[in-house]
Amino acid sequence: METKRTSDELPEVMTVGLADVLRPIAFARGLPNPCYHDRELAKLEFNRVFADGWTGAGFSKDAAQPGDVYPFEMAGLPFFMARGRDKQLRVFHNVCQHRGRTLVAEPKNVKKAMVCPYHSWTYGLAGDLIGTPHIGGVGKHSCPGFDKKSIALKEVPSAEWFGLVFINLAENPTVFGQYIAPIAERWRAFEGLTLVHTGADSTIKFELACNWKLAVENYCESYHLPWVHPQLNTYSPLDRHRAIIEPAYSGQISDCYGPEFPAGAPAFPNAPELPAFWASGAEYISLFPNVLLGLHRDHYFAVLIQPRGPEETHERFEIFYYSDAVTGPAFEASRANNRRLWQSIFAEDRNAVESMQRGRRSPGFDGGRFSPEMDQPTHIFHQWIARALIDGRSGEINTAAQATAPAR
Ligand code: FES
Ligand SMILES: [Fe+2]
Repeated sequence: METKRTSDELPEVMTVGLADVLRPIAFARGLPNPCYHDRELAKLEFNRVFADGWTGAGFSKDAAQPGDVYPFEMAGLPFFMARGRDKQLRVFHNVCQHRGRTLVAEPKNVKKAMVCPYHSWTYGLAGDLIGTPHIGGVGKHSCPGFDKKSIALKEVPSAEWFGLVFINLAENPTVFGQYIAPIAERWRAFEGLTLVHTGADSTIKFELACNWKLAVENYCESYHLPWVHPQLNTYSPLDRHRAIIEPAYSGQISDCYGPEFPAGAPAFPNAPELPAFWASGAEYISLFPNVLLGLHRDHYFAVLIQPRGPEETHERFEIFYYSDAVTGPAFEASRANNRRLWQSIFAEDRNAVESMQRGRRSPGFDGGRFSPEMDQPTHIFHQWIARALIDGRSGEINTAAQATAPAR
């Protein structure tokens, strides 16, 4: 299967497998095995999937206050986000323009400027170079012919939405609004709500021994519910779920959301003035490529899927409520209960996705066949990936123009 190639070329043999993915679901196969473990293909995937369009990169809360900086990696490349005095969040390549040292090593508040630990070149929160100690010789902090104003950190287009930070590494980035419009329109009833993160009991982290796509495709389908989540299936059964199939995202609608709380623990306040659907409805959506979302009348969560390598995935799971009241001690047991619930459900999925990863190494599997009724959310994700691998995401394939989802 392996052929010698560079990481910006799709191997010939793969085009056949990807063409099969693009067939109607009854005849389609899933993504070919190398998409889940091949290192060269993972580099191509980074270029065409992650780096050629808007991609989830972090959370607004990572740099909530002016002066906050937060380093992160995407596919091994170093970046950091910084919140300016103007409250604007900016994302930069995390590399000093002097000798190329990484600039920000840990999350902290730098007040007004970032100072490189190597030779103390100093940058403002908007990336502008403002200090170059001894550049003209000892005691001379400027020198003829060196124009500080012509040098700045390399900024990356970024945008915030629903507590998340997205970045776009494409040469000609599309407008963020075009990418996010389909889902933003769907959930416009929740627009503008204050999202309250309560710290450690709003955070879950997972390290998974699988390709990142398995985490995404496992999340968007409910077919596995009775067998992987037998407890959940008792109060939120398979037959109360419907598939969401849209060009830029897929997932499930549940029509029986009714949270239970420990004895004496209060229910979370609901978001105000929601359409009737949300009284018992919930939606679980994989926003392509790498963000999982869960929306309920009383809380919302977002999961950032971060590949660490073709067969390693990190998940950052953050829960948000809609009222500051939830941060208080009165809600401690309710918050802990909610976190425990989501942690146990996602932990149940671990064995499924890690076992599928082992299956992707088998010559006895060639992408598999889909249930035309139950696997549509997975198939639409595979098609989105296949198109991106073939053509890149330039122009944001499959987004706003084609979306038809009703607003909720
Ligand atoms: S590498 Fe940053 S100041 Fe020299
Ligand atoms: Fe699951």
